Amino acid sequence: MPRQVKWHPGSFFRFGEVKGTIMGLSSPSGNAWKVGVLFSQTGVTAVIEKSQLHGALLAMDEINEAGGIDGREIRPVIYDPASVVKAYGELAERLLTEDGVNVIFGCYMSSTRKEVLPVIERRNALFFYPTLYEGFEYSPNVIYGGAAPNQNSVPLASYLMENYGIRFYFVGSDYIYPRESNRVMRTIVRQGGGEVIGERYVSLEAGPDDFDDILREIRQKQPDVIFSTVVGTGTINLYQAYLRAVGGGGRVPIASLTTNEAEVAEMGPEAAAGHITAAPYFRNISTPANRRFLERYRKRFGTVADVTSCCEATYFQMHMFANALRDTGTTDTDRLRAALQGADFEAPQGRVKIDPDNNHTYLQSRIGKVDEHGEYVVELEVGWPIKPDPYLVVPALNDWSLRLMPPRGGLINL
Ligand code: ACM
Repeated sequence: MPRQVKWHPGSFFRFGEVKGTIMGLSSPSGNAWKVGVLFSQTGVTAVIEKSQLHGALLAMDEINEAGGIDGREIRPVIYDPASVVKAYGELAERLLTEDGVNVIFGCYMSSTRKEVLPVIERRNALFFYPTLYEGFEYSPNVIYGGAAPNQNSVPLASYLMENYGIRFYFVGSDYIYPRESNRVMRTIVRQGGGEVIGERYVSLEAGPDDFDDILREIRQKQPDVIFSTVVGTGTINLYQAYLRAVGGGGRVPIASLTTNEAEVAEMGPEAAAGHITAAPYFRNISTPANRRFLERYRKRFGTVADVTSCCEATYFQMHMFANALRDTGTTDTDRLRAALQGADFEAPQGRVKIDPDNNHTYLQSRIGKVDEHGEYVVELEVGWPIKPDPYLVVPALNDWSLRLMPPRGGLINL
C-alpha cells in the first residue's frame, strides 16, 4: 500500500500513515522549501530504493545543518510507492497538486519513471532521476543523474569481451529497462564481433525456483558471460540459484549494471563472489569526498552496508539542486534548469557535471568485481567523467574516450 512517511530530522525515518498533510519537522519560520521524495521502502525494489532515500535524507541534513537555503530549510515530503508502478504517477500528481511541491526526487525502475514523466511535464515541474537507465529519452523536466548506456554498457561489454569471451546470455526482469538495455547491449556485442546466444525474462516477483529453466539452458549452452538486467529481490534469488546450480562467478560471471552493494549484502558473499558490475561509483573507492560521505552516512544510519551508486547519485543530485536553489532563490523549473545546466559538483565518485545538451550527467565509469568478502574491487576505470550520450550517437565501441585503464586511486578498507 503506498503511503506517506514521517520524517524526523537528524534521526532515522519511520513509517507513518498516509496523511494529506506534511509530516515531520516543524520549521521555525514555517517557510521551508518542500521537496517531494518518491522511493519505495517496501516491495521488490525496496533494497535499492531505501539506499536512494538515505542518500536524499543525508544530503538534506547536510544542507539544513549548513543553514539551509538563505536560512530556509529543505523539507522532504516522502511517500512510499511500495514498488507499485502506477503509484509513482499518482503520488507525483498528489505531490504537485496537494502538497505544494514543484521538485521531486525519485524512481528506480524505468517503468516508474515513465509513470511520473507525463505528470511532471504537464505541470512543468522538475524531476531528479538518480538511476542508471536504458537511454533514448530526453525531457526538459528531468535531470538524469544515473548512467546512460555509453557510460556503463559500452565499457562493460568491452571489458567482458576482452576478458571472458564473446558469447553472451541475457537474463532480465520483464519490463522496459531490461528489454531496452538488452537491445542496446546486443548492438554493442555484435559490433565487437560477439553474439547473444540466449535471452530470457522473469517476472519482477521472481522467486528462487523461477530461474531453474534458465539455469538449465545456461548449463547446456555454455555462454562465456551472463548479462543480467534482473532487478530488486529477483537479483538476490538469481545469484543464489546460480551458486547452487552452476557454482560461483569465477569461470562464467554474471555481469550487471543493476547489482549493487545493497543486493550483494542481501545475497551474501558466497553468491556474489566473482561477479561483475559496471557503475560510476563503488562504495569503497578512495576519494576525499567519498571518505567524508561514508563517515557522515555511517553516523546518520549506523552502517554503510547499503551505500550504492544509486544512493550516491541521489546524494549528489540533492546537493546540486540545493546549489541551484541558492543561485536562483526559486523552485521555478525554467530558472532551476538554467542554473543546473553546466553545473558541476565534487561528488563521492569524482567530479560530475550536468550536460546542457541533454540534461544527463557527465559520470565516471568503473568495472568492479566482487571479492570473497563481498566487496567490489575496481578492476578498471575510464578515469575521467564521460560525456553522456543517451541516444548513442557515437558508435559505441569506436568511442576512444571510453578506454579502460587500471584504477589510479586505492580502495578504502571498510
Ligand atoms: C532501471 O529500471 N532504470 C534500472
